Amino acid sequence: MYAMRKLAVSDLHLGMYVAALDRPWLESPFPFQGFSLETQEQLDTLQKTCEFVYIDEARGRATAARGTHRPAVTGTSKPPPSQFVTRMPADMAKMAWRGHEGFRHDMRKVLVTRSNLSSHVQRLLNEVRLGRGADVRETRILTLELVDAATANPAAALWLTNLGTKHEYTVSHCLNTCILAIVFGVHLGLSRDSIIELALGALLHDIGKMRTPVSILDKPSLLSQDEFDVVKKHPVDGFNILRKHKELSEKALEIVQLHHERIGGQGYPFGLKGDKVPVHVRIVAIADVYDEITSNRVYHEGVPAHTGLNMMFNWGPRDFGEDLMQEFIRCIGIYPIGSLVELNRGILGIVMSTNPGSRLRPVVMLIRDANGKPYERRPLVNLAATARDDGEPKWSIKRVVDARGFGIDLGRIIELETRI
Ligand SMILES: [Fe+2]
Repeated sequence: MYAMRKLAVSDLHLGMYVAALDRPWLESPFPFQGFSLETQEQLDTLQKTCEFVYIDEARGRATAARGTHRPAVTGTSKPPPSQFVTRMPADMAKMAWRGHEGFRHDMRKVLVTRSNLSSHVQRLLNEVRLGRGADVRETRILTLELVDAATANPAAALWLTNLGTKHEYTVSHCLNTCILAIVFGVHLGLSRDSIIELALGALLHDIGKMRTPVSILDKPSLLSQDEFDVVKKHPVDGFNILRKHKELSEKALEIVQLHHERIGGQGYPFGLKGDKVPVHVRIVAIADVYDEITSNRVYHEGVPAHTGLNMMFNWGPRDFGEDLMQEFIRCIGIYPIGSLVELNRGILGIVMSTNPGSRLRPVVMLIRDANGKPYERRPLVNLAATARDDGEPKWSIKRVVDARGFGIDLGRIIELETRI
């Protein structure tokens, strides 16, 4: 049940969950939509910035502590303007922590389905590269398995997007885009059928690149205009490869054909504008771009997840629409799963799972102690569950850091953690 209440900022208290502001989030100093009000600084800033906000009573404290409560001046109100906010499902609570062994179990489950699909996609791409047709019947069966595994275990699925594959870059990019699209679809409260179409479109979105010469695809320097024109053919090539297959819906094919269209009209191949770029296409396009900028390629290293999110926060709304972009940022979180963070004690850890009720305090796997020494058993700490006697958190995140600066290979750690 969605319990949203409009509240004057003067009536806000620490512990409440702020789900929406009285203005676009982009016009506020808060970079992310939806957070638990945890510090006096956040409260002061909100009181300076807004007149009222919407609080989610299901996620945070509904009223002030006893003796200090003042009634809301505006009472129950309409939901906030975002078309997606009201459809936020309880499913995302699955991102919450359910124990180290539980997480390992979830991760292995997703890993098995991801590995099966990964090998299949590699075979499929090879067939297409050789000019043969694509048999997408098996693709559909294996994708359904990944949809179910990732829907049931979104945190584990997101963690695995940091894992490379033994296959070529396009394979891991297709798998990651697929996982991101599934988790984003779940976040938006889409039906299982819609998520399946998203997943298939995302998985196959770049299949047309198998018709693009490798010398252009893997070119380490800037492409010439002619070369870029060749690259721009891949959405239509992909559509033509797949259009005869009855296993793929019109929506999945649209994703393949239109995933480089942008609502400002600057995309390709058709330069569509605004609503002509359907929402299901934009969902996958966001997932595609996010994975593209955060992954390592032949010619460039990916940026850390939080940097990628900040970059997309700046220009994403113009390409994909403000509401949708904000929801993606909300879905991935303040501390994206797989990010390396420095805790207040100088300890380094990896974000393992977001905690919907307390987004500033995720579950973190400790990997190096305050002296820089690696932990042998990599303990896990649920930051939301650690408190001193005075109620203040014992552990907190100081900042997100770049794993490369510390010589840490996150993919290797995930491999070790998923070893059976
Ligand atoms: Fe593409």
